[in-house]
Amino acid sequence: MDVLEAIKKRRSVRAFKDQKIDDDILFNVLESALWAPSAGNVQDKEFVIVKDKEKIRKFADACYEQVWVAKAPVIIVLLSKINLLRMKFGDRAELYASLSAGMAIQNMLLSLTAYGLQGTHVGLYDEEEVKRILKIPEDKKVYSVIALGYPREETIVPKRIDLKSITFFDKYGEKWVKQVPKKTY
Ligand SMILES: Cc1cc2nc3c(=O)[nH]c(=O)nc-3n(C[C@H](O)[C@H](O)[C@H](O)COP(=O)(O)O)c2cc1C
Repeated sequence: MDVLEAIKKRRSVRAFKDQKIDDDILFNVLESALWAPSAGNVQDKEFVIVKDKEKIRKFADACYEQVWVAKAPVIIVLLSKINLLRMKFGDRAELYASLSAGMAIQNMLLSLTAYGLQGTHVGLYDEEEVKRILKIPEDKKVYSVIALGYPREETIVPKRIDLKSITFFDKYGEKWVKQVPKKTY
C-alpha cells in the first residue's frame, strides 16, 4: 500500500477483533514514529506498549468512560521527555512536543493501516491516571493513547469539508480557483 492510499484508508476504528498482534508489526509501527520529524532532532519520544487486559480495562476509565477502549487488544502510549525540549527551545517546548507527537502519531496510524490494522488516537484522557496505571515518572508528559487492533467491521467514512472553502491563494480571503482534478488520490 502506498502512502496516499494509506492516508485515505486510515480510520479511527473503535471496535476490534479479538486477534493477537505480532510484536514485529508493533516494532515496525513504533519505528515509523521514530522516523517522524522531531524539533532539532531531539527525539524526545518514548513509548509504552500495553497488552495487559486489566490495565487496558483501566484505560477506559482513564479515558473518561470511553468504554470501547477496554476492548482494544493493544494500547500504545506516547510520551515526551519534554525537559529535553525545554532545555533546547525554552517556551516553544510545549508547541514543539505537540507537533512532533502529532507527526509521530500519524506515522503510526498510517503504518497500522498498511498492516491491515487501525488505531484511534484518544486525546481525551486523565493524564495523572494514565501515569498512575503505567507508573510513568512525573517529569514525562503523555501525548497520546492509541487504542489499536484489527478492525471488526467496516467503519463509516466521516465526511470532510470542501478543501476549496478553506484554502486561499496569495492572500488570506482570496479564493483559490483551481479546478477540482478528475481523480484525487
Ligand atoms: C486531537 C485528537 C483527539 C481525539 N480524541 C479522541 C477521543 O478521545 N476519542 C475518540 O474516540 N476519538 C478521538 N479522536 C479521533 C477523531 O474523533 C477522528 O479522527 C475524527 O472523528 C475523524 O475520523 P477519522 O479519523 O476516521 O477520519 C481524536 C482525534 C484527534 C486529532
